[in-house]
Amino acid sequence: MSTPHGTSDHRGEAAQRHLQAAAHRHLWLHFTRMSSYAESDMPVIVRGSGQYVYDDRGKRYLDGLSGLFVSQIGHGRAEVAEAGARQASELAYFPLWSYAHPRAVELAERLAALAPGNLNRAFFTTSGSEAVESAWKLAKQYFKTIGQPGRYKVLSRDIAYHGTSMGALAITGLPGIKEPFEPMAPGGVRVPNTNFYRAPDFVAGDVETFGRWAADEIDRAIEREGPESVAAVFLEPVQNSGGCFPPPPGYFARVREICDRHGVLLVSDEVICAFGRLGYYFGSQRYGYQPDIITFAKGVTSGYSPLGGMMVSDALMEPFGSGREDISGFESPRRAGHTGGSGPSGTATFLHGVTFAGHPVSAAVALANLDVFEKEDLLANVRANEGAFRATLEKLTDLPIVGDVRGDGYFYGIELVKDKATKETFSDEESEWLLRGFLSPAVFEAGLICRADDRGDPVIQLAPPLTCTQEHFDEMEQILRAVLTEAWSQL
Ligand SMILES: Cc1ncc(COP(=O)(O)O)c(C=O)c1O
Repeated sequence: MSTPHGTSDHRGEAAQRHLQAAAHRHLWLHFTRMSSYAESDMPVIVRGSGQYVYDDRGKRYLDGLSGLFVSQIGHGRAEVAEAGARQASELAYFPLWSYAHPRAVELAERLAALAPGNLNRAFFTTSGSEAVESAWKLAKQYFKTIGQPGRYKVLSRDIAYHGTSMGALAITGLPGIKEPFEPMAPGGVRVPNTNFYRAPDFVAGDVETFGRWAADEIDRAIEREGPESVAAVFLEPVQNSGGCFPPPPGYFARVREICDRHGVLLVSDEVICAFGRLGYYFGSQRYGYQPDIITFAKGVTSGYSPLGGMMVSDALMEPFGSGREDISGFESPRRAGHTGGSGPSGTATFLHGVTFAGHPVSAAVALANLDVFEKEDLLANVRANEGAFRATLEKLTDLPIVGDVRGDGYFYGIELVKDKATKETFSDEESEWLLRGFLSPAVFEAGLICRADDRGDPVIQLAPPLTCTQEHFDEMEQILRAVLTEAWSQL
């Protein structure tokens, strides 16, 4: 029998109806107003192949968001799935509490070789929130261990999202998703983000001046809070929430200098920006700054199994014992070259752990994922095509509703405005209708997965698999053009 979405037989339709009934009765979707599905079906995605996913009716969608900034290598890669299956047969599980297992060691070594500077130590988690949580806990315990027990505060930017667990939520800069869970863990301090499109008037004329001001606001916040109370600054290379704010030129160099001057750690939250999203293994490499910690998740496995973690500098590891320097009969290329982290090592224990962190299956999958990156030179694909991606999206700026297109690599935000000349944004009611009432269902219906978000000003976000080429950019542009044109006519 034919459906509006494709074809399916009666048995297929009965199975779909059962799945919908069970989903409505038992499944709780994340960050989702469940009542919005009271009268309608939930979208059910059943399989993926390359840059596309398919729903339970057989309809195809271009995955313009890599699921949730995750599927870097695209869907349906048998060799990555098989690496996980092989590992599950050999050793499905063993903890990283007091023991190592080979895939965790191999992955830690490989990530250390890819990470910038002296970030030679991998601490694995299962998610990005746990990675952020771990980084804050490490910063606090590190400072206690080296005799600076007053340092516990963390600076992060307005509207930035750093995760949902209570520590990560205290670092997150979105009041709306924090309010139900107040009081927060103490110590979260906000500084301005780098949204140049909406820069304050006194620095709006020049992006470098704006960047210097935004960085200096971090300096002022540290001074205001008292440098001896500040542990770390958490920043994404390109801030996701708010719609892809790249760093102005000179911003990170200045932030690094400010952190060094005050003895504050710089944590680069690369849960989205690592693993090719910006054309480099790590986003900090694109903008040429050296973090003390990098947090990662998502793209490290391209979603074939969950994994997160942090890469930690040798210097931060020192109070916790830096381990044996030489491995008999084996010299790691990384160790041979590295310069940081000399001096006596301590005996402290990082009092933190997660049962499934660095899970053998996930570690095996991450290694296979990185093999695909290498074999297909995905970083080169992003670097070669990002200009074309941007240029294709910029065609949309001829529409009256498109105010700004911004981002880098394969990571773009399109800000929607009511008046291009004045940059006037939509009221809360208009935004509610535009994003949830119209755009989200309309782009999905038109066959594109992307994100319509108004946690800051209304934006559409795109972060497709790193294998995408011009045909996919064109498909995104054409779908968005049609849907945004229709939205404008209905406003
Ligand atoms: C920058 C950043 N940090 C942390 C997180 C939290 O990651 P997770 O959802 O895996 O807990 C996210 C999730 O999108 C993120 O974008």
